Amino acid sequence: MRLDSPTRLGPNTLALHWIVAVMMIALLATGLYMAQTSTYGLYPWHKSFGVLIALFVVLRVAWRIRNGWLKPVGDYTSVEKWLSKLVHWLLIIGTVLMPVSGFMMSAMGGHGVSVFGVELIAHNPDPTDPQEVVALNATLARVGHLLHEWGGYLLIGAVLLHVVGALKHHLIDRDGTLRRMLGAEVRVAP
Ligand code: HEM
Ligand code: HEM
Repeated sequence: MRLDSPTRLGPNTLALHWIVAVMMIALLATGLYMAQTSTYGLYPWHKSFGVLIALFVVLRVAWRIRNGWLKPVGDYTSVEKWLSKLVHWLLIIGTVLMPVSGFMMSAMGGHGVSVFGVELIAHNPDPTDPQEVVALNATLARVGHLLHEWGGYLLIGAVLLHVVGALKHHLIDRDGTLRRMLGAEVRVAP
């Protein structure tokens, strides 16, 4: 298991970054689409992948704690360093908050949670009308929904800043930040 070095990132960092990145972008896009168009057929898929990604997020946070933060490849201003730290923290917090709040909203709202057909939390049908569900805890369900919705918007903003930052490094600063995250060995400022 190779740890990161300043010039080259290890396979764990690369695999975990790209698995989580692709799944997060897909879940943010499908989440917004299905909620705005009431496409209920997508909900079970969204919940299944949402719970699955939580496993990778836990591994990723544990790996970041063991491995430390990435060393910058260049000699940047303190504002740039501060901004990149802020956005990385927002991304990490967002990737933890989204599965937790989604789970809380669905489970506490009485809708239940299944992962690829395996039921983790049963739905809670209304005895007087089995088409409807009864919340297990309406307040927690509401808090989960608010966090999921507003957390989603915040995370979309952070991802956009992050991608613009990566492109700025590659196209304007012409340094190895993006190439290093794609697996290349790069030169770093002394
Ligand atoms: C990293 C994981 C996840 C991401 C990035 C994500 C993202 C989103 C986004 C952006 C929305 C649209 C919010 C809105 O406009 O109301 C949404 C909706 C939703 N998500 Fe997630 N989600 C994730 C995980 C989960 C999980 C684990 C569950 C449940 C187990 C879940 C259940 C739902 C449900 C039920 C909705 C629809 C809410 C509504 O109808 O208003 N999500 N998700
Ligand atoms: C096309 C999309 C993406 C690109 C091009 C990209 C690119 C990069 C690059 C170049 C770095 C290294 C920064 C450095 O050396 O300081 C990085 C780190 C990071 N990225 Fe992304 N990224 C993308 C999507 C995402 C998404 C969607 C998330 C999470 C929601 C994310 C979370 C992170 C985090 C937390 C780090 C800090 C290092 C780590 O913990 O692995 N990225 N990204």
